[in-house]
Amino acid sequence: MVYITRRETFNAAHRLFRSEWSEEKNLEIFGLCSNPLWHGHNYILQVTVKGEINPQTGFLINLKELSKIIKEKIISKIDHKNMNLEVDFMKGLLPSTENLTVAIWNELKEPLMISGCILHSIKVFETENNYAEYFGE
Ligand code: NI
Repeated sequence: MVYITRRETFNAAHRLFRSEWSEEKNLEIFGLCSNPLWHGHNYILQVTVKGEINPQTGFLINLKELSKIIKEKIISKIDHKNMNLEVDFMKGLLPSTENLTVAIWNELKEPLMISGCILHSIKVFETENNYAEYFGE
C-alpha cells in the first residue's frame, strides 16, 4: 500500500456565527471569524489517496487526474466564493475548518473510488498554524 498526496489551494470567505447568539457571544466564541461583514482565508487543501502501484505506469493514480477531480468537485465550487451563502456542499454547516474538512471528504470519496483509489485523508489549512484532518471516522 502506498500513499500519495495532491495539494491544491483556494481562497474563500466565511463568517462563523450562530444567529441565536448575541454579537458579543459570537465574538467571544468565534473571535475575528465572527466579523459580520465577512472575511477570507487562503486555504491549502491536501488530499491523500492510497492503493497499489500500477506496474505499467509506476503510479497509484495519475496526479493530473487526481487534480482534475479535486478541481471539478471542490475548487470550482469554493474558490473566491462565500462559504455561508453559495457553496452547495457547505449548505447548513458552520464553515469551520473542521466542518469544511469533513464536507470535502464526503464530496471526494465516491469520485475517487470510481477512479480506482481509496481516499485516505483530507487535510485543510486555514492559516499557517491551524489545520484540520479527517480520515473518515
Ligand atoms: Ni475566519
